[in-house]
Amino acid sequence: MTQSKVILKTAEGMAPHGGELVNLEAPKGQVDQLTKEAQGLKKVRLGSKETSDLEMLGIGAFSPLAGFMNRDDYMNVVKSMHLANGLLWSVPVTLSVSSDAASSLKEGEKIALVGESGTTLATMMVQDKYTYNKAVEAENVYRTTEEAHPGVAAMYGQEDVLIGGPVSIIQRPPHDNLQEYRLTPAETRAAFAEKGWQRIVGFQTRNPVHRAHEYIQKCALEAVDGLLLHPLVGDTKGDDIPADVRMRCYQVLLENYYPKDRVLLSVMPAAMRYAGPREAIFHALIRKNYGCTHFIVGRDHAGVGTYYGTYDAQDLLKQQSPEELGITPLYFDNTFFCKKCEGMASLKTCPHDSSNHISLSGTQVRNMLAAGELPPPEFSRPEVARVLIESMKN
Ligand code: ADX
Repeated sequence: MTQSKVILKTAEGMAPHGGELVNLEAPKGQVDQLTKEAQGLKKVRLGSKETSDLEMLGIGAFSPLAGFMNRDDYMNVVKSMHLANGLLWSVPVTLSVSSDAASSLKEGEKIALVGESGTTLATMMVQDKYTYNKAVEAENVYRTTEEAHPGVAAMYGQEDVLIGGPVSIIQRPPHDNLQEYRLTPAETRAAFAEKGWQRIVGFQTRNPVHRAHEYIQKCALEAVDGLLLHPLVGDTKGDDIPADVRMRCYQVLLENYYPKDRVLLSVMPAAMRYAGPREAIFHALIRKNYGCTHFIVGRDHAGVGTYYGTYDAQDLLKQQSPEELGITPLYFDNTFFCKKCEGMASLKTCPHDSSNHISLSGTQVRNMLAAGELPPPEFSRPEVARVLIESMKN
């Protein structure tokens, strides 16, 4: 009795946000019938960000959300970082349509959601249609109304009316890459259980992996059973490195420097918001849904430019109650290679002055790689740098 209880708990793993893992995907047997039904419905075409949000909703990565946000949830999230039911949630998940399109939709009407290629992906019950104030969302969620901020710019580019309501997924958005890495929360959870991992640290990233990333991942891994390397592969801003290239960097890094039985590499389909502190909470809650017990938050997590202070994301996470969060953040200071320490360090662990520290700006590194030059091995593993140099040639 006790034995089976323990096993059950291990298999279930970490409780998802809100207690239950949502699955909004139609059973295979119903797909034909649902597709037929959708043909007779009004259609709303999704952009790329909404398509990845739909995928996140469908697979339960946004549990407990069961659809795009209605007005109550949206207003609460923007103003007070909670859903209308009181649950912590920091970033809106919304679907916008033009005023014209909105005027032809009735509340209570079922519609079809169509992907960029025209494929019907889901149906949605329109519960609510409402206008919203983009500046208020920008100020609250992004802490700036400047359009130079890529997340704000993307939001300002949305249509003017939001429609909310539950979705039912007919088919996942099709992808032509990274198939073997697209594990759902149920699948990562099953993988953790199979490996016998009980304490799992999640790592969010949108950049090519460098030594500081590796260092904080391995520091975290020293304290837990397994590491979920979880690059974000949805939309990123134009000058970020494409997901395929970043994944090749991870493949060579894992082959050469990581213990195979302690790391799971999988991807997260969501788009990047660059919302810094708010997005750090969002990222943590999502990784809790994927079954992680811990989550790495380093310097300027999900930040862009100089919009956020180096530790703003950590500060906002620290203000949340551990019970509400339900996943333990692991905080890291800015890390670098110190010549005197002869290893990676941070100001928490290194007493030497900064002339001993190897730190390169993003621009410096990009210029070196573009010129076919390897950055110092203290900054980037040569195997990784070679992948980046090769990708820049193309
Ligand atoms: S992010 O937008 O996904 O946060 P990035 O991929 O660069 O960008 O960072 C992934 C994670 O590593 C974040 O938690 C970030 O704070 C952390 N990080 C990146 N570089 C460093 C560094 N030099 N020192 C400490 N933490 C870092």
